Amino acid sequence: RTRLDTVKTIDDALEQINKAQKILVITGAGISTSLGIPDFRSSKGFYSQVQHLGLSDPQEVFDLEIFLTDPSLFYSIAHMILPPEKIFSPLHSFIQVIQSKGKLLRNYTQNIDNLESYAGISPEKLIQCHGSFATATCVTCKYHVKGEEIFEDIKNREIPYCPKCAKMRKKLMKNDEDSFVPDSYGVLKPDITFFGEPLPETFHDLIRRDLSECDLLISVGTSLKVAPVADIVDKIPEHVPQILINKDPIDHCNFDVSLLGYCDDVASYLASRLGKSWDIPHKDFDSIRGS
Ligand code: OAD
Repeated sequence: RTRLDTVKTIDDALEQINKAQKILVITGAGISTSLGIPDFRSSKGFYSQVQHLGLSDPQEVFDLEIFLTDPSLFYSIAHMILPPEKIFSPLHSFIQVIQSKGKLLRNYTQNIDNLESYAGISPEKLIQCHGSFATATCVTCKYHVKGEEIFEDIKNREIPYCPKCAKMRKKLMKNDEDSFVPDSYGVLKPDITFFGEPLPETFHDLIRRDLSECDLLISVGTSLKVAPVADIVDKIPEHVPQILINKDPIDHCNFDVSLLGYCDDVASYLASRLGKSWDIPHKDFDSIRGS
């Protein structure tokens, strides 16, 4: 992709945000780090925190086959990424303001913390590309439960079991000692998209149309290392300006403008330059920022 000659500076970025009617926003773990939730690949990120497990690749904590073989591995560390409830960052608010101005085509988030919903981003504007902790499903009978029903077990580092399969699991374990009962029989798994699982259907249903309709792309707080979300950037039509907001530069994508820094600060700056009606509510975050 060749860079657009006309979009190079922060002033150009502001002009594009002002002009745009259908903004496609891609987000990742970096938009929640100011709330104390670790990202994945930074030096103190989640993947460095699970090194003690001795996996050949820390991403294996989200590997479906490994989960089905031994769910205890995931549940030994799941408490570390259990999302807090009812908080959101200034950056989440910035996306909500884009929405309130009727300019949000869609927010494709890779985050599983579900904090967008607390910020007021409406379900039809939000694609949780990697699922979320909001619900969980039994790997055996597919029974669905609300995510919070398994939070207590997650906090206690225990494996949550499906109430519908509990009897049968007990019976199988007791009576049929010779036959193989997988450890994951009747285990509830949060509806996070593990490696080896397809992305939610809504992603595939909407991405093609959104790619052809969007008139501005903003990518925030993601290293853009995991396909297919990372591929969205390459697939955006050439005439559509692309803005990066991130702590670290992203060298493998060709953004027109890179606004490097903490995304809450960048968003606050943009909002202040865009005018009063873009104000991001701050008072709830004063105690959190800088922690
Ligand atoms: P990464 O950890 O790969 O990238 C986070 C990016 O956010 C990095 O480039 C950081 O520099 C940047 N960052 C961190 N804090 C920031 C801040 N306050 N302001 C601005 N930028 C900040 O996380 P993702 O790209 O989201 O999959 O990772 C994608 C997927 O990989 C995740 O969805 C996860 C993981 O495997 C699942 O959970 C299934």
